[in-house]
Amino acid sequence: MERVRMMVTNFITSVAACLLLLFMTRVAPLRAHLGTTPNIKHIVMGRCFNYVTLVKPDSRFDCEEIWRAFEEAVLRQASCDVACEHYRRLFRAMPQTGACHRFLLWSKTRKLTQDYAAVARHLWTLEDTLAGYMFNDLIWCSQQEDSRRPLPATGWRGDQSQGQAVSATSVSDFDFGSCPEWSACLHHPVHSLWRQASKNFAEMACGNVTVLLNGSIEKAFNRNSMFGSVELDGLNPQRVHYVNIKVATNLDGPFIESCGRGSVADLIHILQARGFRWTCSDSDRILTMLQCVHKPEHRACRTCADTHPGI
Ligand SMILES: *[C@@H]1O[C@H](CO)[C@@H](O)[C@H](O)[C@H]1NC(C)=O
Ligand SMILES: *[C@@H]1O[C@H](CO)[C@@H](O)[C@H](O)[C@H]1NC(C)=O
Repeated sequence: MERVRMMVTNFITSVAACLLLLFMTRVAPLRAHLGTTPNIKHIVMGRCFNYVTLVKPDSRFDCEEIWRAFEEAVLRQASCDVACEHYRRLFRAMPQTGACHRFLLWSKTRKLTQDYAAVARHLWTLEDTLAGYMFNDLIWCSQQEDSRRPLPATGWRGDQSQGQAVSATSVSDFDFGSCPEWSACLHHPVHSLWRQASKNFAEMACGNVTVLLNGSIEKAFNRNSMFGSVELDGLNPQRVHYVNIKVATNLDGPFIESCGRGSVADLIHILQARGFRWTCSDSDRILTMLQCVHKPEHRACRTCADTHPGI
């Protein structure tokens, strides 16, 4: 009797373990579609006040109005239907200009760009604008259309029924459970905001512009990236003196693209055709040294002093 009970218990335990495993593997891919970042309002408002108070104390932005414009853009649309135009009021609330010669654009070099911008303090990236600063690393979307109360069939835009329109739009909230992937939407709320922010950023670029590309991947210059599809077209040859390209590879490689090779050559052709002056470097010492900070023992990081310890 005792033995049978033990066998049954073991059986149940292993079935439970299997189910748990199955459940976990099933759930894992779903987890990839995170919902709206928790506390998003506090984070965005906090970053906004931080920016106007400490980062750029001379700026005059209305953080409350910025939040209202953001909320309006996101919550009035279905979660896959937030186009760049819907953020018009938001971007109108945060006009910005940057000093010339400081613009740094990048593609697939996020970590290195952060390190570079931290060292070359004069450089300005999208993440240093108020929009980039506030929304960096955040996710957001509204609840799916079908979970909302439907709009009244007629007259919801009419004068008499304004009250209804307001109550119908205020039903929606951020979806903290899950958000669609970028690729699943025609107009993804996060993608649209970054598209518009990138466009504005590139359009105000002037003087010398630095572009930091990743030479360790195929297509360092990718026409589908934010740089290739939005920023490059936004640059104005009348305002930009030079586009200075820097191609950085990982210390360990692979060494796939460089100035004359692969998609970087395509970029140079496009720049030339549009009348830009340009330079290109694929052996920038500072970019190598920044990577060496994380891997000081790497042979690419040895200096003369290391190789001749007696001197
Ligand atoms: C290049 O891209 C790869 C893959 O995304 C990344 O792991 C690597 O850090 C990038 N290298 C540089 C120099 O940014
Ligand atoms: C702009 O870039 C060009 C080419 O690299 C360089 O000769 C010039 O000194 C740069 N000007 C400024 C102000 O950085």
